[in-house]
Amino acid sequence: MSTTPTPQELEKQAAATAALRWVRDGMLVGLGTGSTAAPFIRALGEAMRTGQLRVQATATSEASATLAREVGIPLVPPQRGMRFDLTVDGADELDPQLRLIKGGGGALLREKVLATASNYLLIVADSSKAVPQLGKFPLPLEVVPFALPWVMDAVAELGANPVVRVSKTDAAQHILSDQGNLLVDCHFGQINDPKQLATQLKTIPGLVEHGLFLGLANAALVAHGEQVQVIQA
Ligand code: 5RP
Repeated sequence: MSTTPTPQELEKQAAATAALRWVRDGMLVGLGTGSTAAPFIRALGEAMRTGQLRVQATATSEASATLAREVGIPLVPPQRGMRFDLTVDGADELDPQLRLIKGGGGALLREKVLATASNYLLIVADSSKAVPQLGKFPLPLEVVPFALPWVMDAVAELGANPVVRVSKTDAAQHILSDQGNLLVDCHFGQINDPKQLATQLKTIPGLVEHGLFLGLANAALVAHGEQVQVIQA
């Protein structure tokens, strides 16, 4: 049974479809994760099926890898010296300087690895993601399970209210990343100095990665209704 897409879903679709114009034949493409990256993966698969494009790709999550296989995109594993021509990924928040909060879908570690190994990171987003200042969306962290109590203490000292991510249907069930780590969502409120916060978070042992993506995005496609705004870094 098909349901009518919501305005937000239509915006995700519009941004994702527009991203196809950034893809060139023969590119090595990084595939993001989430409900905006997914329609991009489907559109890319369709462009491959009709012979418009031929690309290879690496996915930022098992979910995106599964979808890529389903739609016929050939996947290559990580290798030394690998650089992506383009990575297309979603975001939970993006500010006017294209600083991002990512990790709402729990894939922040692989997403940051691919973003850093990419020559061009293109963000696709619906209009709700564009914010004047980062911080309304709780900042996701990926944390080694053994280190959890101390990481919780350390981020609380930095002013956050950390919450371990659990299943929506079973609060006793922790959500794990593809690496088997815990995800912790940190409510900092407005983040006035993202760079300073990123530096502080990086010093906490057992905190594998945080969802602040600073200086990584080259451009963003933000859909407002049917119009797609291009924001360059
Ligand atoms: C996953 C992410 C996603 O890109 C982010 O959560 C946005 O997701 P969506 O497009 O579903 O709103 O960072 O780890």
